[in-house]
Amino acid sequence: MMNGVCTFECGGSHVEIGSGIWADRLSRSVQGSSKLFVVSQQPVWRIYSGLVKQALSSATFVTLVLEDGESVKDLRQFGAMHDWLASHGADRSSLIVVIGGGVAGDLAGFVAATYMRGIRWLYVPTTLLSQQDASVGGKTAVNLSSGKNLVGCFWPPEHVVIDTDFLKSLPYRQQVAGYMEWLKHGVLDGEELLQEILGVSLPTGDWSGHRQELARGVQVKAEIVTRDPREKGDRQLLNLGHTLAHALETTTRYALLHGEAVGHGLIMAVGLGLVRGSQYDWRELTEKIVNLLPDNSEWPSDEQLIEVMQRDKKRRSGKITWVVPSKPGEVALMSDVGDHEVRRALMFWRDQVTQ
Ligand code: GLY
Repeated sequence: MMNGVCTFECGGSHVEIGSGIWADRLSRSVQGSSKLFVVSQQPVWRIYSGLVKQALSSATFVTLVLEDGESVKDLRQFGAMHDWLASHGADRSSLIVVIGGGVAGDLAGFVAATYMRGIRWLYVPTTLLSQQDASVGGKTAVNLSSGKNLVGCFWPPEHVVIDTDFLKSLPYRQQVAGYMEWLKHGVLDGEELLQEILGVSLPTGDWSGHRQELARGVQVKAEIVTRDPREKGDRQLLNLGHTLAHALETTTRYALLHGEAVGHGLIMAVGLGLVRGSQYDWRELTEKIVNLLPDNSEWPSDEQLIEVMQRDKKRRSGKITWVVPSKPGEVALMSDVGDHEVRRALMFWRDQVTQ
């Protein structure tokens, strides 16, 4: 960490994490690009367009502002963005600058990967969720009607600028959603980081005071991605909490935000750990998650959830690989979890969330 800025390389991306750095990094990084294509999202653009224009005042750029929400991340919008690039004369040396959350990053990153067989992109993630997750690791994708992120590829942004300043304007629900992915990194890393994250009270206006723990969370992901960039093995650890999360997102038709669903999935995952003999006391974690998540009295049945989990795209050779923590920092991949164990873990999750 230099001058409060944490910098590292991850899978082809130069990543910087700090507070109050984005405008400066943006204006410096775009120098020398023939033409810039700025992609943003309505809620972000409403607040930050003036500052973005000021930061890019020395460059020529065109802007595309996406509607908010997951529904823009589809093949129709993917095609429209290629036409938008072509109609404005984008060439191989053009740069796409994405200022937004995971939806904008996944979609525009995939467009960057395919336009003229690949052009450069720079990512300024503006939500806690995208700062902790989508910004590193190079995954880009769009959704099909049959499932999330089913079409995509690995195409890392050249430069990622993570700035806690954006979090000040983040609505509470989005703070909670991003917090769950951060918490996931705490469970993967170990007791020390986990306790730091559990100690954060939401909503908070003081994100810059948590800069170091936020950077550590991103680095947990970066270290795993560096070991296994193409998700052949260890990268599956990042799916901690995601099997139930995806099933809840599907069965509730996305009434839950992804991060909220991951919070539920984390409870089930520690439940599975307990079923598998974990002696660790997970109460602080489960209580924190339950206190943050919105109440709901009507959850899908075990049968519905198990049926959707069986179809999850993360399944390989017909088997679900579960990510099971025995304690913070000790998390294993398990493909031999029986139906009765899954049901006991679901029961543990239901007990926690319906108290
Ligand atoms: N979101 C999990 C991964 O990037 O692998």
